[in-house]
Amino acid sequence: MTEHLIVADDKHARVITMRRPEKKNAITHEMYRAMCEAINSAQDNPDVRCFIITGGSGVFTAGNDVEDFLDTGTSKVDASRASNAVKFLHALAHNTKPIIAAVDGIAIGIGTTMLFHCDYVLASKTATFATPFINLGLVPEAASSLLMPRTIGHQRAFAMLVMGRTVDADHAREAGFVNEVVAPGQTEAEARKVARDICELPTEAVAISRKLLKLPPEDMTRRIDQEAHLFAERMRSPEAVAAFKAFMARRKG
Ligand code: COA
Repeated sequence: MTEHLIVADDKHARVITMRRPEKKNAITHEMYRAMCEAINSAQDNPDVRCFIITGGSGVFTAGNDVEDFLDTGTSKVDASRASNAVKFLHALAHNTKPIIAAVDGIAIGIGTTMLFHCDYVLASKTATFATPFINLGLVPEAASSLLMPRTIGHQRAFAMLVMGRTVDADHAREAGFVNEVVAPGQTEAEARKVARDICELPTEAVAISRKLLKLPPEDMTRRIDQEAHLFAERMRSPEAVAAFKAFMARRKG
């Protein structure tokens, strides 16, 4: 376990909470590992019927820890393929139980792309969504190049994934990847209500119906791996390394 990732079962819902507020819940290798474990360990556990992923109040996540990007981008070892981030994404692709996301505040990078693996997304009025890979010299990940156009259409996906544009909660709902917009501070409470609704439904029929709606896991993992390969190349590119360093320098300055 890591102090930055809290996993707690609330009746039949497994609540996964990113808790690193001093860094806007930026996700470290260890947090990915713990999220992956929280999802995988529930697959054969009948007591867990759904998941809630939350960042608590005020922030969802600022995405992958940029310091970790810099370490990987300047490392001599290519750890990309076996990285905890990729394992987490595979866990999302193979997961068989509904995932509810509670987004209060910023959802950047994987904070937004992971939502396209979720089944029900609640956002606060102040939530914003951005996938600014381009600003870091990077490319889409998490099968977002497959799932985002499928959900919100090519043009909106292009504006977010290729141009790095931010959208607010109302636009996200209109685009189709947020179910409900609620008051700030209320996303987690509302997510628990949605979880209760889901847990009362016939479990097997939920699993079969959900599977019918989703792309086959193999299609998603194939795209995740293709993207991860390109992403790893980009992380080592001079423009990406310069962008990571610029972010870290801004932090210190
Ligand atoms: N990785 C590592 N640290 C991060 C981070 C990230 N993705 N996002 C925020 N932080 C850290 C900041 O460095 C800062 O740390 P410090 O207090 O030690 O200097 C702290 O979190 C607070 O962030 P700060 O930038 O001061 O807050 P802000 O409200 O002005 O801006 C963001 C918040 C999220 C808009 C801004 O931090 C940001 O752009 N982060 C990077 C997002 C990103 O590019 N993620 C990767 C996407 S692929």
